[in-house]
Amino acid sequence: MFFSTIRLRDLTLKNRIVVSPMQQYSATEGIPGDWHLVHLGSRAIGGAGLLLAECNPKERMLPLAVSEGGWQLKSSSATMINEPVQANAIITDGLADLILIAREHLRDPYFSLHAAKILGEEIAIPWQYQRAF
Ligand SMILES: Cc1cc2nc3c(=O)[nH]c(=O)nc-3n(C[C@H](O)[C@H](O)[C@H](O)COP(=O)(O)O)c2cc1C
Repeated sequence: MFFSTIRLRDLTLKNRIVVSPMQQYSATEGIPGDWHLVHLGSRAIGGAGLLLAECNPKERMLPLAVSEGGWQLKSSSATMINEPVQANAIITDGLADLILIAREHLRDPYFSLHAAKILGEEIAIPWQYQRAF
């Protein structure tokens, strides 16, 4: 299930939704700043189980960076998976352990909260946002 936990070594993710690494070209001398805090922070508030920070190969690598191809998840699915029902089916059928979602997370930082509602799953909603969900 999309909203089941998964353990990666010492890290337990609350769901199988991953924000793909997305280059933002906004670091200053390789150091993430306010943009990264807001960009990644809003997707964290949005309920994603894991956020992958970008790597810009032309600059010094960010402290939090995951280089392209540098960390390969054994079983993940990426590209053009935008629909919660489709993503849930991929996990439920055992075709992948995690779903990496990039562009849909740009369109909707709260993708996970919306996906939970569509799938009828319980998800912790920040109390500050509860009146909207
Ligand atoms: C704006 C943007 C920046 C991206 N930057 C990276 C990156 O730094 N490293 C990486 O491995 N993939 C990067 N990608 C690829 C995504 O991680 C993802 O694999 C790809 O967009 C397909 O997923 P999607 O159909 O959900 O967008 C980027 C994609 C987008 C849209």
